Amino acid sequence: MRVLVLGAGKMVEAILTGFKKTENLSEWVIYSPSGISAQILAGKVGARVTTDPLLVKNPDWILVGCKPQQLSDLGSSLKGAFKESLFVSILAALSEEDQLEKLAGKELIRVMPNLPVEFNEGVSLLSSVSGQSRLSSMQALFAKLGTSLVVSEDELEELTLLTGSGPAFFYEFARYLAGSFTSLDEEKREALVKQVFKGAARTLKQDSESLSDLTDKVTSKAGVTIAVLNHWREMDLKDRLLSAIAAGKKRAEEIRVTLRS
Ligand SMILES: NC(=O)c1ccc[n+]([C@@H]2O[C@H](COP(=O)([O-])OP(=O)(O)OC[C@H]3O[C@@H](n4cnc5c(N)ncnc54)[C@H](OP(=O)(O)O)[C@@H]3O)[C@@H](O)[C@H]2O)c1
Repeated sequence: MRVLVLGAGKMVEAILTGFKKTENLSEWVIYSPSGISAQILAGKVGARVTTDPLLVKNPDWILVGCKPQQLSDLGSSLKGAFKESLFVSILAALSEEDQLEKLAGKELIRVMPNLPVEFNEGVSLLSSVSGQSRLSSMQALFAKLGTSLVVSEDELEELTLLTGSGPAFFYEFARYLAGSFTSLDEEKREALVKQVFKGAARTLKQDSESLSDLTDKVTSKAGVTIAVLNHWREMDLKDRLLSAIAAGKKRAEEIRVTLRS
């Protein structure tokens, strides 16, 4: 399978590192304007490099991995050469329609991965109208990187904050948790909280019970865990979380508007 990869930043690196474990990437060709990031990534994952994407003829599909604000430049440099190709774009905030216009393409699938795809434990949300015929095969491919779910474009836009930003929310929470104790030093407490985090994640993987059932398993009536949880409930942690997420959604909409103009 020949895949043209446009961009070689953090997210593309995570995707290709995940795919390296399940696919042969020797026919994948990476392009980046500097050439440096493409060269380094190609070396890491066993792919090839090109200094000009127009030299790659008839790719099976094209992975678009630049930043949304770089898409117009990328579209100009492609000169409409890939009209018949399927674009698979990981760009946030730009609609399928806008991306197709900038790339002068006909078929595009939006994929919103998160960084744990690097370890084949990610979430990839997929949506497409123009690329419907290849949506299920692309879903199967991204399933090799973790959970792969087809959703509507509106759902993809909303859930990006949960799946894409989500890891950062858990890290921040874990940091506050570690900082709520005084024993040991900060570094050692962080090491402990990371292991608690890994252990809790491992339990989730093996257990089909709901999150509240799993919480109940740790708590006992009138015990110390429930004392903390009850305090959170009394201080409306749920509502505070909701308002923080609302701030993220508002910012996402502002970015969408800026990119459209
Ligand atoms: N980071 C995340 O967690 C995450 C999650 C979901 C989706 N995404 C999406 O992933 C995309 C990339 O994000 P990132 O964090 O990986 O960015 P990044 O690290 O800044 O990488 C951007 C890459 O795009 C390349 N590039 C710039 N202009 C280009 C052009 N005209 N043609 C082709 N390639 C070009 C850059 O090349 P040089 O190296 O030569 O500068 C660089 O390799 C964004 O659209 C973002 O919305 C990111």
